[in-house]
Amino acid sequence: MAKFQCVDELVKALHPIDPVYCLRKKSLKLAANWFKNNFPGDVLYAIKCNPADLVIKSLIKYGISHFDAASIDEIKLIKKISPSSTIYFMHPVKKESSIREAYFSYGVKAYSYDSKEELEKILKVTKNANDLELFLRIQASNEHAEIDLSKKFGANNNEAITLARVGRLKSKLFAFSFHVGSQCMHPIAYTKAIRNMGNIIKKSNIFPDIINVGGGFPTTYPDLYPQPIKNYFKEIKNAIKKLNLKKEPKLICEPGRALVAESGSTIVKIELKKKQNLYINDGTYGSLFDAGTPKFIFPTKAIQIENIPSKRLIPYSFYGPTCDGLDYMKGPFMLPSNIKTGDYIEIGQLGAYGMSFRTNFNGFYSNQIHEINDKPIMSIYEADDNYNIKTLFA
Ligand SMILES: Cc1ncc(COP(=O)(O)O)c(C=O)c1O
Repeated sequence: MAKFQCVDELVKALHPIDPVYCLRKKSLKLAANWFKNNFPGDVLYAIKCNPADLVIKSLIKYGISHFDAASIDEIKLIKKISPSSTIYFMHPVKKESSIREAYFSYGVKAYSYDSKEELEKILKVTKNANDLELFLRIQASNEHAEIDLSKKFGANNNEAITLARVGRLKSKLFAFSFHVGSQCMHPIAYTKAIRNMGNIIKKSNIFPDIINVGGGFPTTYPDLYPQPIKNYFKEIKNAIKKLNLKKEPKLICEPGRALVAESGSTIVKIELKKKQNLYINDGTYGSLFDAGTPKFIFPTKAIQIENIPSKRLIPYSFYGPTCDGLDYMKGPFMLPSNIKTGDYIEIGQLGAYGMSFRTNFNGFYSNQIHEINDKPIMSIYEADDNYNIKTLFA
């Protein structure tokens, strides 16, 4: 890993033939500080989003000491870097062997469940430990999210009543958790989820020690301008206040995208230009999965080798390097009309769910990761007081 002032300097120095993944410590610092200073509780980083060493070490340096893990390998990764970190094993369906290792070898106390079977598994494997923190994941509407996670996990309200009662009996600390879906575009989603949780509390008469409001906090993309995240936090605080709980529960959140998206970008090379289709050297089997299936439009910046970039920006689509027709990213990605084969493109907002989605399908895989010191193409943390993100999007 080398360090560069900006992406243009990197391209000039390396003329990379494979995709290059850029990481920005400054962006991680801004985002971590912002969450720590504004969220009224503990901030857990959702490791799945980007488990790169530099990301984890930077977040720890800037004050994030709690982590949401989905697998035993994520737990091992964090414990190797920072043995004193607190880990929450928040996948509602876990392997027995992973629970065993997490509890007995790594001291993990917090586990999520959304079914009787999973709860019994956790209790059996930990030998009915008396220091468990059990998180009941309840269903939440994902109607405001760009990525729907609601079908796969979450107990419905009827199931939740019994599961809460048993969970409370078997735990040292009992919690409710939910996820409103990733890139949630309206803060009201959290109010709805908390209100629903309130119904379960009323019906079960089980009061949580902890409420985990999950991830879902949005970043920004060229066609997605969410409200400031502060509004999301206000909404959460108000909704919890309205529950009128005798004892205020501790709050935690598990941001992924909003913490790390703007810290990362991918530099790709154009291998071929066919009208407004650019054949590039990374794609949906690399760091650009979200540009393919969920059709996210990412911000782009041209790095042209010979031409002076034309001021006329036109819409392009991308094809990735593999032979699969699904390796297609519709866009539109706005780039100069005179961009051509051999030029480079920086694609922003890929610090989240970019590098972590890479495969070596068809033999295409790059592990070139470098540190960059410039500003990301788009940023919610560097926006002005009016939350004017567009000003940064040159
Ligand atoms: C349990 C859990 N927590 C947190 C996250 C992070 O979500 P986001 O990146 O939307 O903040 C996810 C993402 O899938 C998740 O499954």
